[in-house]
Amino acid sequence: MPTRNLNILVIGPDKERRQEIVAELLHHRVAAPIELEAYSQIRNLAAGAKDWNVALLDLDSDPDLCLAVVQTLSSRNPMGTVMVYAKHRDPELLMRCMRAGAREYLTLPIDHRLLQEALSRAAARRTESAGLENTGKILVFLGSKGGVGVSTIATNFAVVLNQEGASAFLLDLNLELGETSLLLGVNPQFTLADVLENARRLDRELLEGMITRHDSGLALIPGPDAVGAVQAFENGDLSRLLGLLQDQFSFIVVDAGHGLLRNGQAFLDMADTVYVVTQADVPALRNAQRYVKHLQRVAGAKVRLVLNRYDVRKPEIDEDHIAKAVGAPVDWRLPSDYQLVRRSHNTAAPLALADSPISLVIRNMAREVCGKPLQPAPKRRLRFLG
Ligand SMILES: Nc1ncnc2c1ncn2[C@@H]1O[C@H](COP(=O)(O)OP(=O)(O)OP(=O)(O)O)[C@@H](O)[C@H]1O
Ligand SMILES: [Mg+2]
Repeated sequence: MPTRNLNILVIGPDKERRQEIVAELLHHRVAAPIELEAYSQIRNLAAGAKDWNVALLDLDSDPDLCLAVVQTLSSRNPMGTVMVYAKHRDPELLMRCMRAGAREYLTLPIDHRLLQEALSRAAARRTESAGLENTGKILVFLGSKGGVGVSTIATNFAVVLNQEGASAFLLDLNLELGETSLLLGVNPQFTLADVLENARRLDRELLEGMITRHDSGLALIPGPDAVGAVQAFENGDLSRLLGLLQDQFSFIVVDAGHGLLRNGQAFLDMADTVYVVTQADVPALRNAQRYVKHLQRVAGAKVRLVLNRYDVRKPEIDEDHIAKAVGAPVDWRLPSDYQLVRRSHNTAAPLALADSPISLVIRNMAREVCGKPLQPAPKRRLRFLG
């Protein structure tokens, strides 16, 4: 398998070792590899960048950080081949590397033949994957704490996005008792629990049979409806599921609930945008600040701050203070309307399908991702007294 056209990254803080790898690679007549001297430089690669085929990482300089980067790279570009190089073959580290998504573990000094074989396998994977590019965008909704309105916003956002002409999919990633089926009034035959149970043999056809459809046409996988139905899942399972959904839908809207790391890193690495949903109270804002900072550090996704139940006319904390406290500007604000939201939940009628100040914001959030002009707020009628 020709290895000439592989685009290769070499990532490692130890210059001498990096140069040894580059020199070895050049013996194999590959194009000049790109060198990154700090693990953190992968941040400069665009999220979802698939313009590299092989990434070689120095495991010894900082094994934990290296493993985190291996995981990020392999989730962002599942068809790329991630390899690590190390002085010794440590069975425990080898296991962790493989779990994080590395496909090859090379020891120094590099053996010519083994490197050639590893490059040939990478070239074969690249050929196999040609034409299988995932295109759907992953939009994650994450609560700064419980009960801030993630499910309400994500569910309605997905309904409207689908209605705006973009094929949308709603994935409820709440591992315990997801609520999207209740909010939409659907009676699913399969939930996330069934999908994850079959994750290893999941393909397009099997997934299609497990999808639930709402009257509005929105396709979804609701969260489990039994306690303890999903204990945990592996990052690889979620990447596979998201990859299959990306092949079929333009947008995958994820209700991630609250608690970021419970769901693993994969969906964040694959995400295009993460909407951090918060309310304007001190604990929620404190958490939002922590999440925004974390996301800006580890995820390549855009981060958007959504303020729910916010009264712009009588704010308890004004927007400038919120932006300063969270460390990011407020992108969207939804007013509080307890009656409307409660009625929508109790009747399972998505509130975004009728006119209201909340639905206008949700519609505009959806229009923004479709690249459509935002709709203005209706003019308030002037009332003349007397
Ligand atoms: N804009 C709003 N105005 C008034 N009430 C709202 C608004 N948004 C959400 N709520 C109310 O807040 C409560 C929590 O909403 P929701 O279930 O969407 O939050 P969540 O973040 O998904 O919660 P959980 O952490 O339990 O998953 C609900 O009772 C809902 O009625
Ligand atoms: Mg919820």
